[in-house]
Amino acid sequence: MTRKALTIHQLDAMKRDGEKIAMLTCYDATLARTMDLAGVDIVLVGDSLGMVVQGRASTVGVTLADIAYHVDCVAHGLERAFLLGDMPFGSYCDGPTAMAGAVRLMSAGAAMVKLEGAGPMIDVVDYLTRRGVAVCGHLGLTPQSLHQLGGFKVQARDEAAVERLLLDAQALEAAGAQMLVVECVPSAVGREVSSRLRIPVIGIGAGAGCDGQVLVMHDMLGLGERAPKFVADFMAGAGTIAGAFEAYVLAVREGRFPAPEHEY
Ligand code: KIV
Repeated sequence: MTRKALTIHQLDAMKRDGEKIAMLTCYDATLARTMDLAGVDIVLVGDSLGMVVQGRASTVGVTLADIAYHVDCVAHGLERAFLLGDMPFGSYCDGPTAMAGAVRLMSAGAAMVKLEGAGPMIDVVDYLTRRGVAVCGHLGLTPQSLHQLGGFKVQARDEAAVERLLLDAQALEAAGAQMLVVECVPSAVGREVSSRLRIPVIGIGAGAGCDGQVLVMHDMLGLGERAPKFVADFMAGAGTIAGAFEAYVLAVREGRFPAPEHEY
């Protein structure tokens, strides 16, 4: 049976209407179902699965087969939420390779694929979007470039880097990207990107001014060993996993999360 999922137009309308979008990562059908019932708008099968599911030190090493498998699992648990699949490191170096990967994730159930960076990725986004693929960009801290960045660090700290990020965001939108994730940047930068773009901007460690928020599920359930500053533990006080997801959705909708203590 075809599910009645949110569309990108409904997510655009949420941005236009100032309704905050709640997104979480997920990797299996049972928790996907629980998130769906809790009202999570977008479920991301992130390559963070390399760290929280596979126990790796980074997302490098996650394969397209890994993501496709988990997209397929998650798709079976969803009714309403929009399903986003991550393109892993090395899977989108050129248009045709990226297209083959996107086809694999979309065949498994993804409505949109996410890839990190700008520069040469702008041409890849253009290639994909001209061929019917809905694409989400990812700027700021791009974990697949961990070794180039010298660690998981806050990005866009100086004026030149902010200007670069804003230009990259606009170039991604012009190339056809229909959503953007911005990770680990000062809250003023998150707010500025969101106001300059027409497409929904989802922040993680990017402040309350973004159009929506995303967290890695394991982090917001208090399972991370050393949670970054931008994470809140929604399990504390919720009692159940379903309650934690509901509390997260409500806190995002009401603009209570992220609070000032979660911002850079
Ligand atoms: O892989 C992932 O979970 C992500 C989020 C951190 C946005 O890309």
